[in-house]
Amino acid sequence: MAKKSDSPPPAASPPAVSPPAEEVLREPAEVRYAQQLLALAQNDAETPPANWRLSPRSVLAYVVGGKTLKAKIDGKAVEVPITRKFFGDDGIVERAIVTLASERALLLIGEPGTGKSWLSEHLAAAISGTSTLTIQGTAGTTEEHIKYSWNIARVIAEGPRPANLIPSPTMVAMRSGGLLRFEELTRCVPDVQDALVSILSDKAIAVPELPDSNMVWARPGFNVIATANTRDQGVNELSAALKRRFNYIYIPIVGDQKTEVKIVQERSRELLERYNLPAKLTPSVIELLATVFREIRNGKSSDGVSLKKPTTTLSTAEAIGVALDSALHARFFGGGEVGPADIARNMVGVVVKEDQEDRDSLKEYATLVAKKRGVKEKAWKEFHDALVEQL
Ligand SMILES: Nc1ncnc2c1ncn2[C@@H]1O[C@H](COP(=O)(O)OP(=O)(O)OP(=O)(O)O)[C@@H](O)[C@H]1O
Ligand SMILES: [Mg+2]
Repeated sequence: MAKKSDSPPPAASPPAVSPPAEEVLREPAEVRYAQQLLALAQNDAETPPANWRLSPRSVLAYVVGGKTLKAKIDGKAVEVPITRKFFGDDGIVERAIVTLASERALLLIGEPGTGKSWLSEHLAAAISGTSTLTIQGTAGTTEEHIKYSWNIARVIAEGPRPANLIPSPTMVAMRSGGLLRFEELTRCVPDVQDALVSILSDKAIAVPELPDSNMVWARPGFNVIATANTRDQGVNELSAALKRRFNYIYIPIVGDQKTEVKIVQERSRELLERYNLPAKLTPSVIELLATVFREIRNGKSSDGVSLKKPTTTLSTAEAIGVALDSALHARFFGGGEVGPADIARNMVGVVVKEDQEDRDSLKEYATLVAKKRGVKEKAWKEFHDALVEQL
Protein backbone atom coordinates (compact mmCIF):
# COMPACT_ATOMS: atom_id res chain seq x y z
CA MET A 1 0.00 0.00 0.00
CA ALA A 2 1.33 3.39 -0.83
CA LYS A 3 2.53 5.35 2.16
CA LYS A 4 0.25 8.20 2.98
CA SER A 5 2.18 11.42 2.81
CA ASP A 6 1.61 14.27 5.24
CA SER A 7 2.72 16.84 2.77
CA PRO A 8 0.01 18.53 0.74
CA PRO A 9 -0.51 17.27 -2.79
CA PRO A 10 1.64 19.05 -5.34
CA ALA A 11 -0.03 22.13 -6.68
CA ALA A 12 -1.43 21.74 -10.14
CA SER A 13 0.86 23.34 -12.65
CA PRO A 14 -0.30 26.85 -13.39
CA PRO A 15 -2.26 27.26 -16.59
CA ALA A 16 -0.25 28.59 -19.50
CA VAL A 17 -0.86 32.30 -19.96
CA SER A 18 -1.36 31.82 -23.67
CA PRO A 19 -1.24 28.62 -25.69
CA PRO A 20 1.63 28.18 -28.14
CA ALA A 21 1.19 30.19 -31.30
CA GLU A 22 0.43 27.26 -33.56
CA GLU A 23 -2.48 26.15 -31.39
CA VAL A 24 -4.61 29.27 -31.61
CA LEU A 25 -6.91 30.28 -34.41
CA ARG A 26 -6.01 33.92 -34.17
CA GLU A 27 -3.04 35.51 -32.46
CA PRO A 28 -3.19 39.09 -31.19
CA ALA A 29 -1.29 41.60 -33.33
CA GLU A 30 1.63 41.86 -30.87
CA VAL A 31 2.28 38.11 -31.24
CA ARG A 32 1.63 37.80 -34.96
CA TYR A 33 3.78 40.82 -35.82
CA ALA A 34 6.30 40.45 -32.97
CA GLN A 35 9.29 40.48 -35.34
CA GLN A 36 8.19 43.68 -37.05
CA LEU A 37 7.62 45.35 -33.67
CA LEU A 38 11.04 44.24 -32.45
CA ALA A 39 12.76 45.46 -35.63
CA LEU A 40 11.06 48.85 -35.29
CA ALA A 41 12.10 49.13 -31.64
CA GLN A 42 15.72 48.28 -32.52
CA ASN A 43 15.76 50.91 -35.26
CA ASP A 44 13.88 53.60 -33.34
CA ALA A 45 15.89 56.80 -33.57
CA GLU A 46 13.58 58.81 -31.32
CA THR A 47 12.64 58.49 -27.66
CA PRO A 48 9.13 57.14 -27.20
CA PRO A 49 6.71 58.99 -24.89
CA ALA A 50 6.57 57.60 -21.30
CA ASN A 51 5.49 53.95 -21.26
CA TRP A 52 5.20 53.75 -25.05
CA ARG A 53 7.11 50.91 -26.68
CA LEU A 54 7.81 52.88 -29.86
CA SER A 55 8.13 56.51 -30.87
CA PRO A 56 5.13 58.01 -32.71
CA ARG A 57 7.07 57.87 -36.00
CA SER A 58 7.75 54.16 -35.54
CA VAL A 59 4.13 53.45 -34.58
CA LEU A 60 3.11 55.09 -37.85
CA ALA A 61 5.70 53.06 -39.75
CA TYR A 62 4.30 49.87 -38.17
CA VAL A 63 0.72 50.67 -39.22
CA VAL A 64 1.37 51.96 -42.73
CA GLY A 65 4.35 49.71 -43.56
CA GLY A 66 6.61 50.05 -46.57
CA LYS A 67 10.09 49.83 -45.01
CA THR A 68 12.49 46.93 -44.69
CA LEU A 69 14.59 47.07 -41.53
CA LYS A 70 17.77 45.34 -40.47
CA ALA A 71 17.36 43.72 -37.06
CA LYS A 72 18.92 41.22 -34.72
CA ILE A 73 16.42 38.55 -33.78
CA ASP A 74 17.43 35.53 -31.64
CA GLY A 75 21.06 36.49 -32.19
CA LYS A 76 20.75 36.45 -35.98
CA ALA A 77 20.97 39.45 -38.29
CA VAL A 78 17.83 39.53 -40.41
CA GLU A 79 15.93 41.87 -42.70
CA VAL A 80 12.36 42.43 -41.64
CA PRO A 81 9.85 43.92 -44.08
CA ILE A 82 7.26 46.08 -42.34
CA THR A 83 3.91 45.30 -43.94
CA ARG A 84 0.97 47.68 -44.26
CA LYS A 85 -1.71 46.92 -41.71
CA PHE A 86 -4.27 49.66 -42.25
CA PHE A 87 -5.04 50.74 -45.81
CA GLY A 88 -6.38 54.22 -46.28
CA ASP A 89 -5.42 57.76 -45.54
CA ASP A 90 -2.14 57.85 -43.57
CA GLY A 91 -3.26 61.20 -42.15
CA ILE A 92 -5.98 59.33 -40.21
CA VAL A 93 -3.35 57.13 -38.58
CA GLU A 94 -1.17 60.15 -37.76
CA ARG A 95 -4.06 61.96 -36.10
CA ALA A 96 -4.97 58.83 -34.14
CA ILE A 97 -1.41 58.54 -32.82
CA VAL A 98 -1.28 62.21 -31.86
CA THR A 99 -4.58 61.88 -29.97
CA LEU A 100 -3.30 58.88 -28.04
CA ALA A 101 -0.33 60.89 -26.85
CA SER A 102 -2.61 63.72 -25.76
CA GLU A 103 -4.98 64.32 -22.87
CA ARG A 104 -7.96 63.21 -24.91
CA ALA A 105 -9.15 59.70 -25.69
CA LEU A 106 -9.67 58.42 -29.23
CA LEU A 107 -12.98 57.37 -30.79
CA LEU A 108 -12.80 55.61 -34.15
CA ILE A 109 -16.22 55.93 -35.71
CA GLY A 110 -17.65 54.77 -39.03
CA GLU A 111 -19.67 52.23 -40.97
CA PRO A 112 -19.35 48.56 -40.00
CA GLY A 113 -16.42 46.65 -41.44
CA THR A 114 -14.18 49.61 -42.21
CA GLY A 115 -11.26 48.42 -40.09
CA LYS A 116 -11.88 50.34 -36.86
CA SER A 117 -11.24 47.42 -34.51
CA TRP A 118 -8.36 46.32 -36.70
CA LEU A 119 -6.68 49.73 -36.49
CA SER A 120 -7.32 49.93 -32.75
CA GLU A 121 -5.72 46.53 -32.20
CA HIS A 122 -2.60 47.49 -34.16
CA LEU A 123 -2.25 50.85 -32.42
CA ALA A 124 -2.51 49.21 -29.00
CA ALA A 125 0.00 46.51 -29.98
CA ALA A 126 2.53 49.03 -31.27
CA ILE A 127 2.12 51.58 -28.49
CA SER A 128 1.62 49.42 -25.38
CA GLY A 129 2.82 46.02 -26.55
CA THR A 130 -0.58 44.52 -25.77
CA SER A 131 -3.89 44.74 -27.55
CA THR A 132 -5.80 42.48 -25.21
CA LEU A 133 -6.80 44.97 -22.51
CA THR A 134 -10.22 45.21 -24.07
CA ILE A 135 -13.79 45.84 -22.96
CA GLN A 136 -16.48 44.72 -25.39
CA GLY A 137 -19.37 47.14 -25.03
CA THR A 138 -22.83 45.56 -24.99
CA ALA A 139 -26.22 46.45 -23.52
CA GLY A 140 -25.18 44.24 -20.58
CA THR A 141 -21.91 46.04 -19.80
CA THR A 142 -21.93 47.31 -16.22
CA GLU A 143 -19.89 49.85 -14.32
CA GLU A 144 -18.02 46.94 -12.70
CA HIS A 145 -16.78 45.78 -16.10
CA ILE A 146 -15.29 49.24 -16.57
CA LYS A 147 -13.93 49.81 -13.04
CA TYR A 148 -13.46 46.78 -10.77
CA SER A 149 -15.33 43.99 -9.02
CA TRP A 150 -14.75 41.85 -5.94
CA ASN A 151 -14.09 38.20 -5.30
CA ILE A 152 -17.26 37.91 -3.22
CA ALA A 153 -16.33 34.67 -1.40
CA ARG A 154 -13.06 36.15 -0.21
CA VAL A 155 -14.63 39.47 0.72
CA ILE A 156 -17.13 37.59 2.93
CA ALA A 157 -14.27 35.68 4.58
CA GLU A 158 -11.68 38.45 4.86
CA GLY A 159 -13.38 41.75 4.10
CA PRO A 160 -12.44 44.08 1.24
CA ARG A 161 -8.67 44.02 0.72
CA PRO A 162 -6.60 44.93 -2.31
CA ALA A 163 -5.91 41.23 -2.90
CA ASN A 164 -9.64 40.51 -3.16
CA LEU A 165 -10.27 43.13 -5.77
CA ILE A 166 -10.66 42.00 -9.39
CA PRO A 167 -9.32 44.77 -11.60
CA SER A 168 -10.99 45.59 -14.89
CA PRO A 169 -8.91 45.91 -18.08
CA THR A 170 -9.19 49.66 -17.48
CA MET A 171 -7.51 49.36 -14.10
CA VAL A 172 -4.77 47.12 -15.49
CA ALA A 173 -4.12 49.63 -18.28
CA MET A 174 -4.03 52.50 -15.79
CA ARG A 175 -1.54 50.73 -13.53
CA SER A 176 0.76 49.86 -16.40
CA GLY A 177 0.40 53.11 -18.36
CA GLY A 178 -1.07 51.18 -21.29
CA LEU A 179 -3.93 51.54 -23.71
CA LEU A 180 -7.44 50.33 -23.01
CA ARG A 181 -9.48 49.29 -26.03
CA PHE A 182 -13.21 49.87 -25.66
CA GLU A 183 -15.08 48.17 -28.47
CA GLU A 184 -18.55 49.35 -29.52
CA LEU A 185 -18.75 52.01 -26.82
CA THR A 186 -22.15 53.27 -27.96
CA ARG A 187 -23.77 49.90 -27.27
CA CYS A 188 -23.40 50.57 -23.53
CA VAL A 189 -26.20 52.45 -21.80
CA PRO A 190 -25.38 56.12 -21.03
CA ASP A 191 -25.10 55.60 -17.24
CA VAL A 192 -22.45 52.98 -17.79
CA GLN A 193 -20.62 55.08 -20.38
CA ASP A 194 -20.45 57.82 -17.78
CA ALA A 195 -18.19 55.65 -15.63
CA LEU A 196 -15.56 56.61 -18.17
CA VAL A 197 -15.99 60.33 -17.61
CA SER A 198 -14.27 60.33 -14.22
CA ILE A 199 -11.61 57.92 -15.46
CA LEU A 200 -10.78 60.19 -18.38
CA SER A 201 -10.80 63.42 -16.41
CA ASP A 202 -9.32 62.39 -13.06
CA LYS A 203 -7.13 59.63 -14.56
CA ALA A 204 -7.98 57.67 -11.44
CA ILE A 205 -10.46 55.14 -10.09
CA ALA A 206 -11.68 55.51 -6.52
CA VAL A 207 -12.24 52.31 -4.53
CA PRO A 208 -14.28 53.58 -1.56
CA GLU A 209 -14.62 50.08 -0.05
CA LEU A 210 -10.91 50.02 0.80
CA PRO A 211 -9.97 51.79 4.05
CA ASP A 212 -6.54 52.98 2.82
CA SER A 213 -4.96 53.27 -0.59
CA ASN A 214 -8.37 53.70 -2.09
CA MET A 215 -7.31 55.48 -5.26
CA VAL A 216 -5.80 53.82 -8.29
CA TRP A 217 -3.91 56.41 -10.31
CA ALA A 218 -3.12 56.09 -14.00
CA ARG A 219 0.51 56.05 -15.00
CA PRO A 220 1.66 58.15 -17.96
CA GLY A 221 0.83 56.47 -21.24
CA PHE A 222 -2.67 55.43 -20.16
CA ASN A 223 -5.37 56.27 -22.67
CA VAL A 224 -8.49 54.80 -24.28
CA ILE A 225 -9.16 53.82 -27.90
CA ALA A 226 -12.86 53.33 -28.40
CA THR A 227 -14.73 52.24 -31.51
CA ALA A 228 -18.36 52.84 -32.46
CA ASN A 229 -20.28 52.08 -35.58
CA THR A 230 -22.73 54.44 -37.17
CA ARG A 231 -25.14 51.81 -38.47
CA ASP A 232 -26.00 49.93 -35.31
CA GLN A 233 -29.64 50.07 -34.41
CA GLY A 234 -30.41 51.16 -30.89
CA VAL A 235 -27.09 52.89 -30.46
CA ASN A 236 -26.83 55.15 -27.52
CA GLU A 237 -25.52 58.60 -28.14
CA LEU A 238 -22.43 59.58 -26.23
CA SER A 239 -23.25 61.99 -23.44
CA ALA A 240 -22.03 65.56 -23.91
CA ALA A 241 -19.58 65.10 -21.03
CA LEU A 242 -18.04 62.08 -22.68
CA LYS A 243 -18.05 63.59 -26.18
CA ARG A 244 -15.84 66.36 -24.94
CA ARG A 245 -13.25 63.91 -23.71
CA PHE A 246 -12.95 62.08 -27.01
CA ASN A 247 -11.34 63.08 -30.24
CA TYR A 248 -13.51 61.63 -33.02
CA ILE A 249 -11.81 60.18 -36.05
CA TYR A 250 -14.07 59.06 -38.85
CA ILE A 251 -12.97 55.96 -40.72
CA PRO A 252 -14.49 56.03 -44.18
CA ILE A 253 -15.27 53.09 -46.44
CA VAL A 254 -12.22 52.60 -48.65
CA GLY A 255 -12.46 55.13 -51.46
CA ASP A 256 -10.70 53.66 -54.44
CA GLN A 257 -10.93 50.31 -56.07
CA LYS A 258 -7.18 49.70 -56.21
CA THR A 259 -6.86 50.00 -52.43
CA GLU A 260 -9.88 47.81 -51.82
CA VAL A 261 -8.45 45.10 -54.11
CA LYS A 262 -5.20 45.31 -52.15
CA ILE A 263 -6.92 44.94 -48.77
CA VAL A 264 -8.98 41.96 -49.92
CA GLN A 265 -5.88 40.40 -51.47
CA GLU A 266 -3.65 40.86 -48.41
CA ARG A 267 -6.21 39.90 -45.80
CA SER A 268 -7.54 36.86 -47.64
CA ARG A 269 -3.98 35.65 -48.28
CA GLU A 270 -3.28 35.90 -44.56
CA LEU A 271 -6.53 34.20 -43.63
CA LEU A 272 -6.01 31.37 -46.14
CA GLU A 273 -2.58 30.82 -44.63
CA ARG A 274 -4.10 30.72 -41.17
CA TYR A 275 -6.63 28.08 -42.28
CA ASN A 276 -3.85 26.24 -44.07
CA LEU A 277 -5.84 26.40 -47.27
CA PRO A 278 -3.97 25.94 -50.53
CA ALA A 279 -6.70 27.65 -52.59
CA LYS A 280 -5.88 29.93 -55.50
CA LEU A 281 -7.36 33.38 -55.53
CA THR A 282 -6.14 35.34 -58.56
CA PRO A 283 -5.99 39.16 -58.69
CA SER A 284 -8.47 39.21 -61.58
CA VAL A 285 -11.12 37.38 -59.52
CA ILE A 286 -10.57 39.73 -56.57
CA GLU A 287 -10.88 42.65 -58.94
CA LEU A 288 -14.22 41.34 -60.18
CA LEU A 289 -15.42 40.94 -56.58
CA ALA A 290 -14.31 44.47 -55.68
CA THR A 291 -15.97 45.88 -58.81
CA VAL A 292 -19.30 44.24 -57.99
CA PHE A 293 -19.17 45.45 -54.38
CA ARG A 294 -18.23 48.97 -55.36
CA GLU A 295 -20.90 49.31 -58.04
CA ILE A 296 -23.72 47.89 -55.90
CA ARG A 297 -22.62 49.97 -52.89
CA ASN A 298 -22.51 53.19 -54.95
CA GLY A 299 -25.76 52.45 -56.77
CA LYS A 300 -24.05 53.08 -60.08
CA SER A 301 -21.98 51.00 -62.49
CA SER A 302 -18.82 52.27 -64.13
CA ASP A 303 -20.72 52.47 -67.43
CA GLY A 304 -23.19 54.88 -65.82
CA VAL A 305 -26.13 52.50 -65.15
CA SER A 306 -28.12 53.54 -62.06
CA LEU A 307 -28.78 50.68 -59.65
CA LYS A 308 -30.96 50.08 -56.63
CA LYS A 309 -28.80 50.23 -53.49
CA PRO A 310 -29.26 47.36 -51.02
CA THR A 311 -29.95 48.05 -47.35
CA THR A 312 -26.86 46.12 -46.19
CA THR A 313 -23.47 47.82 -45.94
CA LEU A 314 -21.16 46.16 -48.37
CA SER A 315 -17.98 46.85 -46.49
CA THR A 316 -14.48 45.74 -47.29
CA ALA A 317 -14.76 43.27 -44.42
CA GLU A 318 -17.68 41.64 -46.21
CA ALA A 319 -15.69 41.45 -49.44
CA ILE A 320 -12.94 39.64 -47.51
CA GLY A 321 -15.59 37.26 -46.16
CA VAL A 322 -16.86 36.49 -49.67
CA ALA A 323 -13.30 35.89 -50.92
CA LEU A 324 -12.59 33.49 -48.07
CA ASP A 325 -15.89 31.59 -48.42
CA SER A 326 -15.29 31.30 -52.15
CA ALA A 327 -11.83 29.90 -51.52
CA LEU A 328 -13.24 27.35 -49.08
CA HIS A 329 -15.92 26.44 -51.59
CA ALA A 330 -13.41 26.02 -54.40
CA ARG A 331 -11.11 23.98 -52.17
CA PHE A 332 -13.78 21.63 -50.80
CA PHE A 333 -16.09 21.24 -53.79
CA GLY A 334 -14.14 22.48 -56.80
CA GLY A 335 -10.68 22.25 -58.27
CA GLY A 336 -9.05 24.67 -55.78
CA GLU A 337 -8.97 27.72 -58.04
CA VAL A 338 -11.56 30.36 -57.22
CA GLY A 339 -13.60 31.39 -60.26
CA PRO A 340 -16.18 34.13 -60.84
CA ALA A 341 -18.98 31.58 -60.28
CA ASP A 342 -17.68 30.86 -56.74
CA ILE A 343 -17.80 34.59 -56.01
CA ALA A 344 -21.38 34.83 -57.28
CA ARG A 345 -22.53 31.85 -55.19
CA ASN A 346 -21.00 33.18 -52.01
CA MET A 347 -22.10 36.77 -52.28
CA VAL A 348 -25.87 36.26 -52.19
CA GLY A 349 -25.91 35.57 -48.43
CA VAL A 350 -23.84 38.70 -47.82
CA VAL A 351 -26.02 41.09 -49.83
CA VAL A 352 -29.41 39.56 -49.00
CA LYS A 353 -29.76 39.36 -45.22
CA GLU A 354 -33.11 40.18 -43.60
CA ASP A 355 -34.50 42.35 -46.35
CA GLN A 356 -35.64 40.23 -49.29
CA GLU A 357 -35.83 43.36 -51.44
CA ASP A 358 -32.04 43.28 -51.52
CA ARG A 359 -32.46 40.22 -53.73
CA ASP A 360 -33.96 42.58 -56.33
CA SER A 361 -30.85 44.75 -56.18
CA LEU A 362 -28.74 41.74 -57.06
CA LYS A 363 -31.16 40.63 -59.79
CA GLU A 364 -31.03 44.12 -61.26
CA TYR A 365 -27.24 44.07 -61.17
CA ALA A 366 -27.19 40.66 -62.88
CA THR A 367 -29.44 41.82 -65.69
CA LEU A 368 -28.31 45.38 -66.27
CA VAL A 369 -24.59 45.07 -65.67
CA ALA A 370 -23.19 41.52 -65.49
CA LYS A 371 -25.19 40.15 -68.44
CA LYS A 372 -24.09 42.95 -70.74
CA ARG A 373 -20.44 42.54 -69.84
CA GLY A 374 -20.82 38.77 -70.21
CA VAL A 375 -21.35 39.15 -73.93
CA LYS A 376 -17.73 40.21 -74.31
CA GLU A 377 -16.00 38.79 -71.24
CA LYS A 378 -16.06 35.16 -70.19
CA ALA A 379 -15.49 35.91 -66.50
CA TRP A 380 -18.56 38.15 -66.34
CA LYS A 381 -20.65 35.51 -68.14
CA GLU A 382 -19.66 32.89 -65.58
CA PHE A 383 -20.43 35.33 -62.78
CA HIS A 384 -23.82 36.23 -64.26
CA ASP A 385 -24.91 32.65 -64.89
CA ALA A 386 -24.01 31.50 -61.36
CA LEU A 387 -25.66 34.56 -59.79
CA VAL A 388 -28.94 34.09 -61.68
CA GLU A 389 -28.98 30.44 -60.63
CA GLN A 390 -28.84 31.49 -56.96
CA LEU A 391 -31.51 34.19 -57.10
N1 LIG B 1 -8.93 50.06 -44.38
C1 LIG B 1 -8.65 48.80 -44.01
N2 LIG B 1 -7.36 48.39 -43.89
C2 LIG B 1 -7.05 47.13 -43.53
N3 LIG B 1 -7.97 46.18 -43.27
C3 LIG B 1 -9.26 46.53 -43.38
C4 LIG B 1 -9.68 47.83 -43.75
N4 LIG B 1 -11.03 47.87 -43.78
C5 LIG B 1 -11.44 46.64 -43.42
N5 LIG B 1 -10.39 45.83 -43.19
C6 LIG B 1 -10.45 44.42 -42.80
O1 LIG B 1 -11.79 44.11 -42.54
C7 LIG B 1 -11.92 43.25 -41.43
C8 LIG B 1 -12.94 43.78 -40.45
O2 LIG B 1 -12.51 44.99 -39.92
P1 LIG B 1 -12.95 45.46 -38.46
O3 LIG B 1 -13.45 44.32 -37.65
O4 LIG B 1 -11.84 46.26 -37.90
O5 LIG B 1 -14.19 46.40 -38.80
P2 LIG B 1 -14.94 47.42 -37.85
O6 LIG B 1 -14.85 48.74 -38.51
O7 LIG B 1 -14.46 47.30 -36.46
O8 LIG B 1 -16.44 46.90 -37.97
P3 LIG B 1 -17.63 46.93 -36.88
O9 LIG B 1 -18.10 48.34 -36.82
O10 LIG B 1 -18.65 46.02 -37.48
O11 LIG B 1 -17.06 46.46 -35.60
C9 LIG B 1 -10.55 43.09 -40.82
O12 LIG B 1 -10.08 41.82 -41.17
C10 LIG B 1 -9.71 44.14 -41.50
O13 LIG B 1 -8.45 43.66 -41.77
MG1 LIG C 1 -15.32 46.61 -34.71
